[in-house]
Amino acid sequence: SQRYRIAVIPGDGIGREVVPEGLRCLHAAAEVHGFELEIAEFSFASADYWQRHGAMLPPDWREVLGGFDAIFFGAVGRPEVVPDHVSLWGSLLQFRRGFDQYVNLRPVRLLRGVRSPLRDHEPGDIDFLIVRENTEGEYSSIGGRIFEGTDRETVLQETVMTRTGVDRVLRYAFELAAGRPRRQLTWATKSNGISISMPYWDERAAAMARRYPDVAADSDHIDILTAKFVLQPQRYDVVVASNLFGDILSDLGPACAGTIGIAPSANINPDRTWPSLFEPVHGSAPDIAGRGIANPVGQIWSGAMMLDHLGEPAAAARVVAAIESVLDERPDVLTPDLGGSGTTGSLGGAIAAEIAGGPSGQRGARP
Ligand code: NAD
Ligand code: IPM
Ligand code: MN
Repeated sequence: SQRYRIAVIPGDGIGREVVPEGLRCLHAAAEVHGFELEIAEFSFASADYWQRHGAMLPPDWREVLGGFDAIFFGAVGRPEVVPDHVSLWGSLLQFRRGFDQYVNLRPVRLLRGVRSPLRDHEPGDIDFLIVRENTEGEYSSIGGRIFEGTDRETVLQETVMTRTGVDRVLRYAFELAAGRPRRQLTWATKSNGISISMPYWDERAAAMARRYPDVAADSDHIDILTAKFVLQPQRYDVVVASNLFGDILSDLGPACAGTIGIAPSANINPDRTWPSLFEPVHGSAPDIAGRGIANPVGQIWSGAMMLDHLGEPAAAARVVAAIESVLDERPDVLTPDLGGSGTTGSLGGAIAAEIAGGPSGQRGARP
């Protein structure tokens, strides 16, 4: 049978609690759909590794990870041990750039059984995809401090937009939109205030829009876009944004759809030269780590996106369907962020059991 080699990196905090639930569900799906997952777990990209080695990753991490079919990642960050910019630039951001995972795909969907904090929204009302540029933009290491310690102390950090980098993520987003029933796309901008890079983004997006006449494309400035996410989330279908704007929108969107604890993401290298990386949108949540109450759904749904990417769409659909029916039908296992008093294990276990024994998951075959 088909065999996939998966590198697993739990990381820190609740990453270590939700990754095992993700794996439990992936194994259940593999069993039902008749493929094998060969798992190799790594302890690097964690504060523990940092304490032992003085680095977040081994020097040969590219060779170590480069041959896997995919990377299943939890979360990194224990700021009391390693400053966040050191741990994240030393791990996750290296993977995204080093493996040219230039698309960060982050679905936002109000699922059955989950209550939106917004008024008057039913499941199905909120259903869009955020396509976040993932290798350049505002996340650049070009800059520095000069005249440190003097009155002239000056700090610069450049935004980088390359034609290739901007066009390829826009093309991915337009292709996605063209394949969806609504064929609507909004690009985030801020060309009124950020007067060099954002007008460039607009120019490239408008040029791309001309190549997709069947896609209804428009743009919103990032400030009003955040307001519209709250006031009319049903308006959106595909939203494409620069690295920083996409980061912000992808916490806001899931919060509007109930909790960031369920939000998945796929860091995709569409060329498939390198492995893609699948992780929840949330972080290591130090405030709840160690208590067994983290919501595992973001990790499990990220696993579904990984199965889809590996070429197992039926298994992916089954996992998503199991998530939806457990959230809807098992209030007894829901974690506190969903208003319940269940645990990471009770929710993950119920989803795994639903995958193994529930009705065939042919519905909702989407990322
Ligand atoms: P966070 O996502 O870790 O937590 C934000 C809030 O959401 C917290 O109150 C947390 O308890 C809650 N939350 C997050 N995930 C949850 C889940 N699965 N179930 C229930 N509640 C959940 O963001 P933060 O507080 O800004 O960052 C904490 C640490 O995580 C920092 O070190 C940060 O740099 C890191 N971080 C890492 C990643 C990543 O590895 N991809 C992403 C974001 C933040
Ligand atoms: C995310 C996270 C990361 C990001 C951090 C931890 C560097 O917030 O994946 O959304 O900003 O990309
Ligand atoms: Mn983020």
